[in-house]
Amino acid sequence: MPMKIDVELNMEVEVEAPVSESLSKPWDPASWRKLQAHQQPKYPPSAEVESVEQQLAGYPPLVFAEEARELRRQLAEVAQGKAFLLQGGDCAESFTDFNANRIRDTFKVLLQMAVVLTFAGNLPVVKVARMAGQYAKPRSADMETVGGIELPSYRGDIINGIDFTADARAPDPKRMLTAYNQSAATLNLLRAFAQGGLADLHQVHAWNLSFLENNPQRDRYAQLAERLQDALEFMAVCGVNSSNTPAIRETTLYTSHEALLLNYEQALTRTDSLTGKWYDCSAHMLWIGERTRQLDAAHIEFLSGVWNPIGVKVGPGMATDELIRLIDSLNPNNEPGRLTLITRMGADVLGDKLPALVRAVEREGRSVVWSTDPMHGNTEKASSGFKTRNFDNILREIRDFFAVHRAEGTHPGGIHLEMTGQHVTECTGGAWKISDADLASCYRTQCDPRLNADQVLELAFCISEMLRDGRNGSS
Ligand code: PEP
Ligand code: CO
Repeated sequence: MPMKIDVELNMEVEVEAPVSESLSKPWDPASWRKLQAHQQPKYPPSAEVESVEQQLAGYPPLVFAEEARELRRQLAEVAQGKAFLLQGGDCAESFTDFNANRIRDTFKVLLQMAVVLTFAGNLPVVKVARMAGQYAKPRSADMETVGGIELPSYRGDIINGIDFTADARAPDPKRMLTAYNQSAATLNLLRAFAQGGLADLHQVHAWNLSFLENNPQRDRYAQLAERLQDALEFMAVCGVNSSNTPAIRETTLYTSHEALLLNYEQALTRTDSLTGKWYDCSAHMLWIGERTRQLDAAHIEFLSGVWNPIGVKVGPGMATDELIRLIDSLNPNNEPGRLTLITRMGADVLGDKLPALVRAVEREGRSVVWSTDPMHGNTEKASSGFKTRNFDNILREIRDFFAVHRAEGTHPGGIHLEMTGQHVTECTGGAWKISDADLASCYRTQCDPRLNADQVLELAFCISEMLRDGRNGSS
């Protein structure tokens, strides 16, 4: 399917310049450079950045335009309540913690969640990994001070190193090449897993059964698992099986990351020769973070001109008129599937803030996918000193998100999680009751605390109940 499209690799190709609606000036992949770009590294003044950018611009795209268009079509279904978006993966991928097992485990757990959600919600689940490019991080402070020494903050492996040394923390443009190569290798493996048999529905369900085996909440979820088992057996009796039905054997997993480092994103932006449109070929979907979504600044300008499906984080400070202007900048033609609003309010405030935003979007007739990131508004410092998030707060934000949309008659379209397939101890709570004192035993994240494999599956079962309630018409 992806091979159908002949993506133009030559950056010099002539195409009609789209008009950036945000600023009503002609858009090109470099037009963001005239504006303020927040959260960017200060590279040393040398020719190296340009040389890296040129190399990247000559490299093959990581995704094809037609794949991004297909994701847009699927997200249009989500916007209409006919599918559900599941987006998740590491807070930040790491160059050192880069191996097949880690990729496989996150892939597996995303699939396990998707099966639970598909079955309960009776809706297709659009799967988008926060992987194969999630290397750049916005930070609250430019500098970090430890023991009287001040160094630049860690900004993700695509920019600098996490070790607290002057060498590691110096932004290094060559890291963009490593990020590209590791993204390519990750994507290659994800594609192989998705098409090569690992995604077979029977297998994925068997993993879910083994998750339930030792789980303290086993009984609560057993009914759903049994119904799914029956459905698979019934299909097999009817002759619908993995060998004759590709939909049972294979899946599609899209990739996404925060389009933060604009030098990199620009270098991976190409024209699609079929449509003449620009696509950021570093991932299928890109999003703009809460800290870089200023209307008059570089990130909005850059993403307004590429045709990928895009997301934008929406925090508790967002005003209704600001949101409408943001939507108009990024989706001026009001196309369903183009724009996903990823709310990240915090469990204590979502119920207060979200209704007004949802009403404004409805009143103005704008088509968006509403997704919830229940992670970034619920970060806290544990008494042990670790940055953590509590399972119950995460769940509460998701419940309130569903409740608001059910009350407003809109669609709770998706979920955006920081998660891993590993058995880390970074978020507290869940069926295994991870406590503050447990956090030290396996705290591995490069940046924010992630849900582990058990917690994330438990969450999938909880969300499946919310989807099922919606299906049955209760709230
Ligand atoms: C993130 O998703 O990793 C992130 C930094 O989120 P936000 O922009 O919502 O703070
Ligand atoms: Co994060």
